[in-house]
Amino acid sequence: MQLLDGKVLSSLIKAEIKVEVENWIAQGGKKPHLAAILVGNDGASETYVASKIRSCEEIGFTSTLVRLDADSTEAEVLAAVEALNQDPDVDGFIVQLPLPPHISENTVMEAVAPEKDVDGFHPINVGRMCKGLPAYLSATPFGILEMFQRAQIETTGKHCVVIGRSQIVGLPMSILMQRNTTPGNCTVTICHSKTRNLKEICQTADILIVALGRPEFVTADYVKEGAVVVDVGISRVPDASKKSGFAIKGDVKFDEVAPKSSYITPVPGGVGLMTICGLLTNTLKAARKEIY
Ligand code: GUN
Repeated sequence: MQLLDGKVLSSLIKAEIKVEVENWIAQGGKKPHLAAILVGNDGASETYVASKIRSCEEIGFTSTLVRLDADSTEAEVLAAVEALNQDPDVDGFIVQLPLPPHISENTVMEAVAPEKDVDGFHPINVGRMCKGLPAYLSATPFGILEMFQRAQIETTGKHCVVIGRSQIVGLPMSILMQRNTTPGNCTVTICHSKTRNLKEICQTADILIVALGRPEFVTADYVKEGAVVVDVGISRVPDASKKSGFAIKGDVKFDEVAPKSSYITPVPGGVGLMTICGLLTNTLKAARKEIY
C-alpha cells in the first residue's frame, strides 16, 4: 500500500506556484488576487476559508475575505458577488458553500463572472469542461487528477467507481475520469443514494472515489484487492478526547481498507489539501488570463 500524501504533494505544488508567481511578477505581471465570500460562521467553512487565505499568503498572492451575516438576503449576497465581478484588482473569487438555506446556491454561482470563477462552478465552466474546452476545473477534482498524475497511477482502461453525484465533486469527477486524456480514459460508474447493489459495484472498482459525506461508510468488504482508493469525505464527529471536541473522519474506514489498497488517501492530510492547490492554480491562470 502506498499513501497518497496530500501534505507532501500540496507543499510541493505550492512551492512550484510560488516560483511561478515570482517569475510572473518579475516579468511585470500583477500579484494574483483571490477573494472569498463567507456567509455566516459555520465552523467548518471558517476553517476552510482561513486555510485558503493562509495558503495565499504563503505563495505570494493577495487575498481578501468578504464576510456577510448568516441572515443576509440573497440580494445582498448577489451585490457582494457583483462588487467582486467589477473589481479590476480581483482576479478570481469563491463563494464558500454551503450557503444558508434561504439563498439559492445555483443563483449565486451563476452570478459569478465565468472569467473570475476559480471554483469552476459556473455553468459555463462546467459546460466547457464537459466539452474538453479550456475551463477552470473545480478544485477537488483537479486536486485528485493531480495526485494521479504525480503518483503516475495508470488510469486508462480502468473501471472507476465514483460514489456521490454532487455538483462540486462527484459529477465533475466522473466526467473528467472518462475523458480521452491522461489521467482519464476510464470506464466510469457513478453511484448515489438510489443505487442498487452499491457494495457489489464498488467491489469491481480499480479506482474507487468516495464522496458521499458519511463518515467511515466504505469498509474493507467494499474494496477489491489492489484498488486505488480516494477519500473525499471530511466530517466532524464528536470526540471527547480531542481539545476541539471533534475528530475529522473520511468516508473510508482507513485502517481496514488501507491494507487491501494499492494507493489510498488519508483524512485529514489527503484530498482536502490538494483542493486548495486547485484553487491557487486556477487563480494564477486567472491572473495570467490563460483561459479567458
Ligand atoms: N465547500 C466545500 N467545498 C468547497 C469548494 O471547493 N468551494 C467552495 N466555494 N465551497 C466549498
